[in-house]
Amino acid sequence: MKHILRSQDFDINFLDNIFHSVNSMMAANRPQTMRGKVMCSLFYEPSTRTRLSFESAHLKLGGSVIGTENAGEFSSSVKGETLEDSIRVISSYSDLIVLRHSDNNAAERAARVSLCPIINAGSGTGQHPTQSLTDLYTIKKRRGMIEGTSIAIAGDLKHGRTARSLAYLLSKYPAVKIYFVAPDELQMDQDLIEYLISKGVHFGTFDSFDPIIGEVDVIYQTRLQRERHGKENHHYNLDITAATIAKMKSGSIVMHPLPRNEEIHSDVDALPNAAYFEQAANSLWVRMALLDYLFK
Ligand code: NCD
Repeated sequence: MKHILRSQDFDINFLDNIFHSVNSMMAANRPQTMRGKVMCSLFYEPSTRTRLSFESAHLKLGGSVIGTENAGEFSSSVKGETLEDSIRVISSYSDLIVLRHSDNNAAERAARVSLCPIINAGSGTGQHPTQSLTDLYTIKKRRGMIEGTSIAIAGDLKHGRTARSLAYLLSKYPAVKIYFVAPDELQMDQDLIEYLISKGVHFGTFDSFDPIIGEVDVIYQTRLQRERHGKENHHYNLDITAATIAKMKSGSIVMHPLPRNEEIHSDVDALPNAAYFEQAANSLWVRMALLDYLFK
């Protein structure tokens, strides 16, 4: 049984396979790999893109969908049922479970007891591996390659799971340079930094775009994860405007997993560098390719 739990578990061969089949997902005669299969989308945290693109992907591949977008309220978790017990039962009704949860270890906990594959659709401040597949695909599509990409990953890196999953995935490609741009108190956690060191990845940490803005091919911007801050009140300004873009190399791009707040101004949207809505659109085809790969 193949679970999708963490992005460092993907290998380059697997990634190539997924990326190669994306175009065939867009074709009218796409495979109907999920016919007769039931996907449960089990979301304990809010979602727009991840849930709807997974559900659409599964439907387009011929499958059916059950689930709840607010499992914290509309499931037996209200009655005190553990995640493990819920998964034991739901996995006996489903052929796969797409799970989003506030616990960093939720996907691993679910996989331990599940009767069907678990796909991690975002676990606390831990990981969001299928978002990083979309992110990488978008870089490849826009730049033609991932090797040699110089990228600034910016924002609330301490609490943002998409930034972590993307850094793990990029570390698999040669000559990648990763610059983490965040205020000190929201910088990338040490465990990931140590992972990059152990893999010999070129990286740096900064609290402003200024030192690297003219060098990077990609800015991967993220929002302040206010809902994960408790009583702390963080403020910083790493906003990207059309004036920021003017300092970037020609052909460089700006990405964002969305939702965005004020960290990318709307004057960027119409610029050719803006790749974030395309990135969100790509997630449908990439998730179809992933489901097809896992179940064919
Ligand atoms: C992200 C998430 O949920 O981690 N959104 C997404 O899935 N595209 C990013 C975020 O919430 O900031």
